[in-house]
Amino acid sequence: MIEILSSPVKNLNTSVIQDALQNISSDVISFSLGMPADNLFPILNFKEATYDLWRPSSFQYCSPLMELKYQIQKLMQQRGVSCTSSQIFLTNGAQQAIQLLCKALIDKDETVATDAAIYPGFIQAAQLSGIPLTMTSTSFSDGMDVDSLEALCQKPKKPKFIYTMSEGHNPLGISLSNEKRLKLGEMAQTYQIPIIEDDAYGFLNYQQVESPLKAYNSDWVFYIGSFSKILAPTTRVGWIIAPEFLIDKLAILKEGNDINTTTFSQRLISAFLDKNDFSAHLSLLREIYQEKRDKMVNALNKYIPEIKFIIPSSGFLIWAQLPKKIDANQLFWHALKNEKVSFLPGTAFSPFSENTLAHCLRLSFSYCPLELIETGVKRLANAIQSYPFNSE
Ligand SMILES: Cc1ncc(COP(=O)(O)O)c(C=O)c1O
Repeated sequence: MIEILSSPVKNLNTSVIQDALQNISSDVISFSLGMPADNLFPILNFKEATYDLWRPSSFQYCSPLMELKYQIQKLMQQRGVSCTSSQIFLTNGAQQAIQLLCKALIDKDETVATDAAIYPGFIQAAQLSGIPLTMTSTSFSDGMDVDSLEALCQKPKKPKFIYTMSEGHNPLGISLSNEKRLKLGEMAQTYQIPIIEDDAYGFLNYQQVESPLKAYNSDWVFYIGSFSKILAPTTRVGWIIAPEFLIDKLAILKEGNDINTTTFSQRLISAFLDKNDFSAHLSLLREIYQEKRDKMVNALNKYIPEIKFIIPSSGFLIWAQLPKKIDANQLFWHALKNEKVSFLPGTAFSPFSENTLAHCLRLSFSYCPLELIETGVKRLANAIQSYPFNSE
């Protein structure tokens, strides 16, 4: 029967690691997934915000809620981005924003340029749309090599767009320097190649950070935001900021995709923002995630001195490099089975079997309870010490 499937779908497989993570037992300490902490969902405030929502119109189809767009417009000012409400397009999460932009921008045989390690949800969306990816040389400490990206943009078959994250990169945890942001903004304009800036973690910064690329070039950067990490993933509300001609087309594409962003969720978020001090909520998230980040950083320095990493200024993730002789895929299985700790191996972040990522791993500090982080890192240290690596 498998032959009835379309070619892209026929080739889709869950990875063995995804399968393993789905069946993870409760005694495993997980640094695998970039999920927000359960205890930071503002459930009581959500409950209060829903008080006025129990009426038929909240359960009906609806157009994008203007009030929510105004609220997002205001929120974006905190990140130094000014836009009009008609440049804001509401989506069912950042993932749908990625899918719609891929559909809207790419023709057959066109390619997309990305960092050498990227968010697997983007890889999946690109693969489903049959889009070949060109991974650009990327430093693990300061991100995309803009010179090699520029060389790529000068080729006759230049990429159709560039997908990147300027803040709290998934998986690299890095933030781009001001110089790189400036250069990327200029390049987008010069070569007329849009940048899709995924800012899923941009509001979760632990020190003063630069504005997103969108603030550096308002026309050629299409910005993606999401409430998943800063409120709750179940709301499934994200947004795109883009020029109006694109918004009009995205609206048609989205209608054919899922008709509208869930009415109840739009109203729930809007009511939440209206009734609560969102800046105070963000400050609380920053404080707690920063504490978790620091706990993990200290434990890594203490128990695994041979590991190399940079301390992320934003987001949920630490990208770590082990000595080259260590294969993080093998370590994953060994650590899960023998030490009951999990992470994601670096190769999960590339569609190619990238050797340059084989000794890398991504550690998420956001979901794990604070009091288990040190024990988890100790377990990881034990796994590294006890595994007979032979990949050199
Ligand atoms: C970089 C990045 N983009 C997009 C998403 C998807 O977010 P959403 O829940 O808003 O669809 C995630 C989720 O982990 C992510 O890490």
